[in-house]
Amino acid sequence: MLTTIKDVAAHVGQEVKLGGWLYNKRSSGKIQFLQLRDGTGFIQGVLVKSQVAPEVWEDASKLTQESSLYVTGTVRQDDRAPSGFELDVKHVEIIQVAEEYPITKKEHGVDFLMDHRHLWLRTPRQRAILTIRAEIIRAIQEFLDQKGFTLVDPPVLTPSSCEGTTNLFHTKYFDEDAFLTQSGQLYMEAAAMALRNVYSFGPTFRAEKSKTRRHLIEFWMIEPEMAFVEHEQSLEIQEQMLSYVVQQVLKNCERELKTLDRDISKLEKVQAPFPRITYDEAVELLHREGFTDFKWGEDFGAPHETKIAESFDKPVFITHYPTEIKAFYMKPDPNRPEVVLCADLIAPEGYGEIIGGSQRIDDPALMEERYAAHNLPLEAYQWYLDLRKYGSVPHSGFGLGLERTVAWICGLDHVRETIPFPRMLNRLYP
Ligand code: 4AD
Ligand code: MG
Repeated sequence: MLTTIKDVAAHVGQEVKLGGWLYNKRSSGKIQFLQLRDGTGFIQGVLVKSQVAPEVWEDASKLTQESSLYVTGTVRQDDRAPSGFELDVKHVEIIQVAEEYPITKKEHGVDFLMDHRHLWLRTPRQRAILTIRAEIIRAIQEFLDQKGFTLVDPPVLTPSSCEGTTNLFHTKYFDEDAFLTQSGQLYMEAAAMALRNVYSFGPTFRAEKSKTRRHLIEFWMIEPEMAFVEHEQSLEIQEQMLSYVVQQVLKNCERELKTLDRDISKLEKVQAPFPRITYDEAVELLHREGFTDFKWGEDFGAPHETKIAESFDKPVFITHYPTEIKAFYMKPDPNRPEVVLCADLIAPEGYGEIIGGSQRIDDPALMEERYAAHNLPLEAYQWYLDLRKYGSVPHSGFGLGLERTVAWICGLDHVRETIPFPRMLNRLYP
């Protein structure tokens, strides 16, 4: 039976067999140092010429970078080793001697690495990122499940848009036109009227022509939707959820955060409650901070969000955006209908908007007015109007962009490394 590197601590002084790959090798002529990885971790194997059979020494000498092998040896605790352990190798069984590996120790450009994304994933850095991504997903689901939310899966192929028509991904659905979903929200609202508190977790698609460090064409979203929940209560759930996620990552991914050199003192501050400022206050802040020609009614761009975030050491909610620049379904503030009951959550350190959410319009007449204002064809949105006609209730929801959240928590400068195979403006391969 194979032991895994993650579990070697339980086998100190024992002989174990690992299945893995050679990550790197150094040799002094009398000793070979094999840097091994097995998907669960990294460990150094030490092979002493005078202590193994000649054919074992020779086999080890044949190993090229990324060759696959079984290796047998004794686990030794070594506090100088990065993993805390080393393996005194007795035996090596080659599975395959790898061809010359394209990714070497030298610096490679991003395009080259992206072309070799299928191999790039094997590095400690990429492994750490994907491990943290999985932990974030796990923690979010744990939080929502514990709060009694039900997971519901909305469709990926849809007949209409949720977030405006400018970045819809078009496809044919036999003889009809269809679009890849931009957001499951409209369907989640239907589900909330059936199951009360629900969430979805799945891929969403935006044919964004923007080539920025925050945009992907295909990204994953968590979308909770809650019946009988109004704007302010939705913000409380968001801040609790995100604090929980960050604290879980700090607790369970210490090693991975270290691999990424993440400044964890910044993450430790991420505890609810988060500050809230209105759009109006955010505009004033921007004016004070030198963005003097920013006009009320414009949407914030990345530099604006970064400037606003700099004033806080926690994520900050910007609430009450102008109705004009937000989606058709957001509920206008009853005291001031030119703004909506919504909030974008802006991450610290320049990572921008990671959550967009709002209270939804619950009045059918107002919803019909919004259809007209947004030129939405009634046929396609009849079912969504039905939700307001048959027992309408106040309800709210939000969407958390997984990749932006991963980029922020990991401290990465681009979302392209947050997802195993990113889909970007100029990239569909591999
Ligand atoms: O703000 P958005 O567009 O909101 C919605 O789609 C709502 N229907 C969600 C809801 O209320 N259920 O997107 C939500 C989040 C953003 O805050 C951002 O984190 C992420 O999704 N996002 C993207 N992430 C990567 N690449 C893109 N092109 C993204 N567009 C949005
Ligand atoms: Mg948004």
